[in-house]
Amino acid sequence: MISCQRHLFDIPDHIAYYNCGYMSPQLNSVREAGYAGVDVKSSPWTVKPVDFFSQPDKARSLFAKLINAEANDVAIIPSASYGLAIAAKNVNISAGQKILVLDEQFPSNIYCWQDLATRTGAEIITVRTPSDFNWTPAILDAIDDEVAVAALPHCHWTDGALLDLEAIGQKLRNHGAKLVLDITQSIGAMPIDVALVKPDFLIAACYKWMLGPYSLGFVYAAPDFQNGEPIEYNWINRARSENFSDLIDYEPNFQAGAIRYDMGERANFSLMPMAIAALEQLLAWGCSDIQQTLSDMTDKIAGRCEDLGFSPLPKQYRAGHFLGLRHSDGLPKDLLERLMAKDIYLSVRGASLRVTPHLFNNDTDAERLISALSDALDRR
Ligand SMILES: Cc1ncc(COP(=O)(O)O)c(C=O)c1O
Repeated sequence: MISCQRHLFDIPDHIAYYNCGYMSPQLNSVREAGYAGVDVKSSPWTVKPVDFFSQPDKARSLFAKLINAEANDVAIIPSASYGLAIAAKNVNISAGQKILVLDEQFPSNIYCWQDLATRTGAEIITVRTPSDFNWTPAILDAIDDEVAVAALPHCHWTDGALLDLEAIGQKLRNHGAKLVLDITQSIGAMPIDVALVKPDFLIAACYKWMLGPYSLGFVYAAPDFQNGEPIEYNWINRARSENFSDLIDYEPNFQAGAIRYDMGERANFSLMPMAIAALEQLLAWGCSDIQQTLSDMTDKIAGRCEDLGFSPLPKQYRAGHFLGLRHSDGLPKDLLERLMAKDIYLSVRGASLRVTPHLFNNDTDAERLISALSDALDRR
């Protein structure tokens, strides 16, 4: 268990922020790294060619540690949708084959597959929300020889419902199908091991549970997909790009590994140091300990919310860091506004009130949340 880390953030006492599923607040260390990074561009004479490589490589290797991969398996991207577009460009699919997705899945992990289906004549198969929120058996049931790829999260973005990715990955491999993961809503707060799950592509934006900056993310490409096509053709991911004076000797080959998928201008001098600072802090805490601590927090809130008539997702079927609350009478229409008026911040996605805490939340936040929810229900 990790003790409250609010002192590492700049969160006033009167704010109860339970909205990491929307966007996490910034660690002070990440903000300072960003300020220092902004200063760099004021004096470009201090920027050396090696800096275009060393910082991205450091970020790559820290992200790789988080998922138990090698640094060269990781490319730098600006958004989850960019990473998913790389995956959609590189999986083989033919007319009549199936692309598996979940009901109400995040749109960045839907639109690229709809486009692929339209271009190839493949079919999107949507696994419907199971009545008990136990997705894994429903997904396993939907996998057959016609599935070419499953595009999935680790936990559902509306309510934190959890998927057993090892079991799903195994069944997909048995049927010769590929696994593409968007783990933006879990990476950093929940451990994942690519050696066990064996995804073909794994994608994550930095600005939620990775506590990093907006407009930066990472994509892991399995070794079999490290000779694919990037979605843009920039200079820095080509072989020998370290040699700036020879860039006009156009180079057909890419740098080794997944680096071929790096976005242009990947050496962002303010965002990259921020991502590095965030990843260092996450690794110092450890994802398992973060998950356990947040799990304890959400369990306590779930129990109190049940007393108020909410139905939290069953504990065994939800991610520990992510609590989705439904109510048999529906959620009060103005619930978020009422909470916001008391400086309590959450989201509603679909029918679910999302409670997405982090290590900065304390018992005072929880008491204020419960009492505000109770008031909002009384007044409707
Ligand atoms: C599951 C999931 N993936 C990705 C994103 C962000 O997508 P993008 O980086 O394409 O803006 C979000 C944002 O809410 C999300 O919930």
